[in-house]
Amino acid sequence: MVPKLHRNPPMVELRLQRIPFASPAYALSMALRHTILRAPLGLHFSLKELQAEKDQIHLGAWAGDELVGCLVLAPVDLHTVRMRQVAVRADRQSHGVGTALVRYSEEVAREHFFDTLTLHARKAAVTFYQKLGYREDPGEFLEVGIPHLRMWLTL
Ligand SMILES: CC(C)(COP(=O)(O)OP(=O)(O)OC[C@H]1O[C@@H](n2cnc3c(N)ncnc32)[C@H](O)[C@@H]1OP(=O)(O)O)[C@@H](O)C(=O)NCCC(=O)NCCS
Repeated sequence: MVPKLHRNPPMVELRLQRIPFASPAYALSMALRHTILRAPLGLHFSLKELQAEKDQIHLGAWAGDELVGCLVLAPVDLHTVRMRQVAVRADRQSHGVGTALVRYSEEVAREHFFDTLTLHARKAAVTFYQKLGYREDPGEFLEVGIPHLRMWLTL
């Protein structure tokens, strides 16, 4: 899929693709997620978390042969899927990669017949999701030691 242009267009054309679990691309996505999401908090992935990922949908945004963004969709039940681990490489942020990935994930979720997308948004990223039409539930909660809000979109 080729995404729509953003106000700051991607530096090169993006390619949005599914990432097979435990593939070389999956290893790249784990490295990106670690760098962007975990390392700044001094956290590592647990074995239990990694095992659960086998049954989740992994998506990547590529610029040429470089993985510049990724996210994970985790089915909650037959109707609802949870978006998690949204990460864009630091030098590619604010160029529409996150928007393109989230929109792509919504398409993939629809293809799997989910009707609701939920997520636990880091408070610092709530505006990003609001701009994409996501609504937030009242009440902050702590996850990985930082404030989050539950957000959702009807697909
Ligand atoms: C949050 C993140 C995924 C957004 O991806 P991105 O590629 O930088 O975002 P885009 O370029 O598509 O931005 C879309 C819009 O959201 C805004 N935006 C992006 N990140 C934002 C943030 N953290 N806070 C507020 N607004 C943000 C942009 O300014 C842009 O607004 P505009 O359309 O009015 O210009 C990315 O910055 C990132 O990986 N951040 C670090 C990890 C993180 O916080 N992940 C989310 C965990 S819930």
